Amino acid sequence: MSQSRRILFVDDERNVLDGLRRMLHPMRGQWKMEFVTRGEDALTAMQSAPYDVIISDLRMSGMDGLQLLEIVREKAPQTIRIMLSGYADQPLRTRASRCVHQFISKPCDAETLKKMVERALALYDRLHSTDLSDVLSRLTSLPVLPKAYREVMDLLNNPSCSLRRIGQVVAQDIGLSSKILQVVNNAFVTVQGQKIFDPVHAVSFLGFKAAEALILTSGVFSELVESSIRRFCVDQLQEHCMRVGTLARAICNGLHMPDDQLDVASMAGILHDAGKMILISSFPEEYWKTILESRSRYFPVYGSERLALQASHAELGGYLLDLWGLPSPIIEAVTYHHEPWLCSQSVFSVTDAVYVANWIDHQRQNSLADGWTEAMNVEYLQSFGVAEQMDSWLRSHKAALVEDLANVG
Ligand SMILES: [Fe+2]
Ligand SMILES: [Fe+2]
Repeated sequence: MSQSRRILFVDDERNVLDGLRRMLHPMRGQWKMEFVTRGEDALTAMQSAPYDVIISDLRMSGMDGLQLLEIVREKAPQTIRIMLSGYADQPLRTRASRCVHQFISKPCDAETLKKMVERALALYDRLHSTDLSDVLSRLTSLPVLPKAYREVMDLLNNPSCSLRRIGQVVAQDIGLSSKILQVVNNAFVTVQGQKIFDPVHAVSFLGFKAAEALILTSGVFSELVESSIRRFCVDQLQEHCMRVGTLARAICNGLHMPDDQLDVASMAGILHDAGKMILISSFPEEYWKTILESRSRYFPVYGSERLALQASHAELGGYLLDLWGLPSPIIEAVTYHHEPWLCSQSVFSVTDAVYVANWIDHQRQNSLADGWTEAMNVEYLQSFGVAEQMDSWLRSHKAALVEDLANVG
């Protein structure tokens, strides 16, 4: 039986806090809830013992929600930070993405809030399990957040920032721009042999979110250029990640999900195998054995990884992105990309789209870094009433990529 979670709510409107208190009364057996009206009081309260979750309003008199959660991130990085907000425009979301795990829109009913907090806690538990800490303790280091990414995020804080300007930042980094050109030209089906040679053009082609994710993966891939890992054909793996990002986005688009979800799908798809890259570079021999084991025993590679290393690339990738401060929906999609049914969502989500896109691409373009691919969980898709879409997703696997390239302006 897990002990009750400590959750702190911060809102300068007392009637909002009273509403939350009433609404969440049935949760009092599982959650130890406290309510304060000022950011300063929240900081005092967390001095005695850290909270599992802090849920703060954005706009408050005195210290606002963003200032509060930035301090919480520094003083208690293990606390899950959730922003409750009526309205958040894109520049604000970009600023908040550095310190907020999850946004919840106001007004929010008890059931939604409860589910989101429970999912955030389950994800946290999965990423901080003892099994994962075992494999982490064997790693000599984890990739650091790439410098170019920080520069791009600073640029994105400026609402008038253009893709062209971001392309120029990428172009200044020779290693990064050659990697991006290579991936763009190899991962996508070219129309009439069209190739892209200019990093600024490549970034325009990819769009903000895909470029952002590719800059992040370049941080992981830059550690992989060693002869010992050649056999895995890391380029193929990176191209697979690009295609999964594009297809996951197309799947979400076809289901009319909102734009911010499409962006999450792109980023999560591109980053979904980041953990695999870390395992390949850290344990090349051991990892090669897990792949052979997976193929010879018809056992999924994430299962072989768990047998050999106590954790899979999915959780390890989620852990790294959490460490880098990426938003929870991306971390969740990466962590559960082979087993989306473990994160109990009631509707087809981005995590499910990444699962489907990854499965399709592994079926179509198996690379040397792949093990055996298990069958698609059709009953799971049926539970959302989307199983019949599978044929059209299979057809759109290449078609969507061609269409994207045709749209290059
Ligand atoms: Fe994977
Ligand atoms: Fe994959």
